[in-house]
Amino acid sequence: MDKLEITGGIPLDGEVSISGAKNAALPILAATLLADGPVTLGNVPHLNDVTTTVRLLRRMGVEITLHDGRTIEIDARNASRFVAPYDLVKTMRASILVLGPLVGRFGQAEVSLPGGCAIGSRPVNLHVDGLRAMGADISIEKGYIRARTKRLTGARLVLETTTVTGTENLMMAAVCARGESVIENAAREPEVVDLANCLIAMGARIEGAGTDTIHVQGTDRLGGAAYGIMPDRIETGTYLVAGAISGGRVTAKKTRPDHLDAVLQKLEAAGAAIEIGETAVTLDMRGARPRSVDIRTAPYPGFPTDMQAQFCALNAVADGTSAITETIFENRFQHALEMQRMGANLRIEGNTVICHGVDSLTGAPVMATDLRASASLVLAGAAARGTTLIDRIYHIDRGYESIEEKLANLGAAIRRLPG
Ligand code: EPU
Repeated sequence: MDKLEITGGIPLDGEVSISGAKNAALPILAATLLADGPVTLGNVPHLNDVTTTVRLLRRMGVEITLHDGRTIEIDARNASRFVAPYDLVKTMRASILVLGPLVGRFGQAEVSLPGGCAIGSRPVNLHVDGLRAMGADISIEKGYIRARTKRLTGARLVLETTTVTGTENLMMAAVCARGESVIENAAREPEVVDLANCLIAMGARIEGAGTDTIHVQGTDRLGGAAYGIMPDRIETGTYLVAGAISGGRVTAKKTRPDHLDAVLQKLEAAGAAIEIGETAVTLDMRGARPRSVDIRTAPYPGFPTDMQAQFCALNAVADGTSAITETIFENRFQHALEMQRMGANLRIEGNTVICHGVDSLTGAPVMATDLRASASLVLAGAAARGTTLIDRIYHIDRGYESIEEKLANLGAAIRRLPG
């Protein structure tokens, strides 16, 4: 297993190009199952989760051509096996995103239940309940969700909890249903909007994506399209925190600053000067130590849970005492325990981490437990005295494209040690 080795204490300086968003690419790849013609996707990030999704689609009989590095052509007209097997779903929960398109277009699906994961129990009951409300006959057998229907019927779906992939699955199911569907308490994340825009390019009739009420008029058929995936707001935020934690100056290019309001506000509160362009954000810490910031995660446009771990690293070396409260997932503080091993002074109280910032962390061997936890340990390593060795970085390769190259370009002393 590969490891990452990072020696801290260097203020990062320079520009980093942001890749396409993982959490937009995954639902959009699943959405190609709905098209009755080839779909060409641009700005597709090079990530293990994308490779897993491509493998999953190919197993279903979908034809996929990889063009230049970032363009993929997908033709689902000959899809014939409507199964997402356990061996793939267990490595990537987002495989659940094929459920809505399969039931919507082909009237059948067998998708392995994802089960729990490192950050919480993460049930998918709302995905299943929504499809049932649209008329799908669903049973849970031997760890699989088995769904059948002649054709889904539009319905009013009130989501009890805001769920990102739940909203996406139901929106994808609804585009092929008979009649109108309304999704209430829908997730407002930019990735939901990106998916809706791609579906609209394929001929879907969707209104209200980005608000908490989405209206979908079902159509008989969606066609091919060409669509470019939005930039990754979490990758952007992660590199900006890298600049802040190291006292440096980092420009994230090819991004969407308007997707990062809550994160940029917290970086400013931490003492960073932020300059916003149309497609770039520059963070300048001017060599200063960050100030502690209190965080409470919330669905978009609130502070993203996917940036919580990175801010935990920032608070670990910041001036002052902070509280980070995680409201989305029940067990998303594994990184905090690893940071303690690097000398962080923090304690977990229920769903809050109380952190007294220390002058500096010390490099140590640490273990990555999930994607964002791994990123936060890289950031902690960039701020620490000495060398940090991060194990199990397959987590990071699921969601950050070439992280060691991008950080090295900013001046970090980082390298991958093949395992
Ligand atoms: N929930 C339910 N029932 C459901 C679905 C969700 O109770 O049927 C609960 C969850 O347990 C959780 C809350 O609702 O407490 C919100 O979870 P959500 O469904 O929104 O999460 P998700 O769709 O599984 C996506 C991202 C995550 C991100 C969350 C929250 C993708 C592929 N994944 O997950 O991304 O943390 O939204 O923003 O879009 C990551 O990229 O590292 C990552 C974990």
